[in-house]
Amino acid sequence: MERSLVLVKPDGVQRALVGEVVSRLERRGLRLVAAKFMAVSRELAETHYAIHKGRPFYDGLIAYIISAPVMAMVWEGPNAVAAIRQTMGATRPTEAAPGSLRHDFALEVGRNLTHASDTVENGEKETALWFTKNELVDWTREADRWVFEK
Ligand code: RTP
Ligand code: MG
Repeated sequence: MERSLVLVKPDGVQRALVGEVVSRLERRGLRLVAAKFMAVSRELAETHYAIHKGRPFYDGLIAYIISAPVMAMVWEGPNAVAAIRQTMGATRPTEAAPGSLRHDFALEVGRNLTHASDTVENGEKETALWFTKNELVDWTREADRWVFEK
């Protein structure tokens, strides 16, 4: 079972789109593992986006992610990483597929609403960065056998 960190970024929180993001992931069949509404420290933002350090958009990206609270979550399911990125849509909202969140709710790459892990390995790493083990909920969902083949 794959896992992905999902953030509803400050623009999504300010625009009252947390429920929309959660709803789409739930309806897709993904299973919620953890969630917390939180202010992001500069230190956490810099660790999370370390790969982008030195890029021209880096300073703006850090300022954006710490500018207001985020809704941080972990979602899991078979092929969760690809499925969630598809539900989010391409990084640039004007390149995101119609029906995806970024297509439907965003215009600019610097206000693109959500974050999702880009690989299975980063799904695990980002889960560990944002959540303690105690915050990850191990549960059985009654609908699992109607959504997951195995
Ligand atoms: P994310 O990590 O947020 O899920 O987005 P992503 O994988 O689709 O995009 P990534 O390349 O990891 O970039 C991280 C975030 O940085 C901002 N960005 N701005 N101005 C720019 O050219 C630019 N490029 C990236 C976006 O907020 C993007 O989500
Ligand atoms: Mg990324």
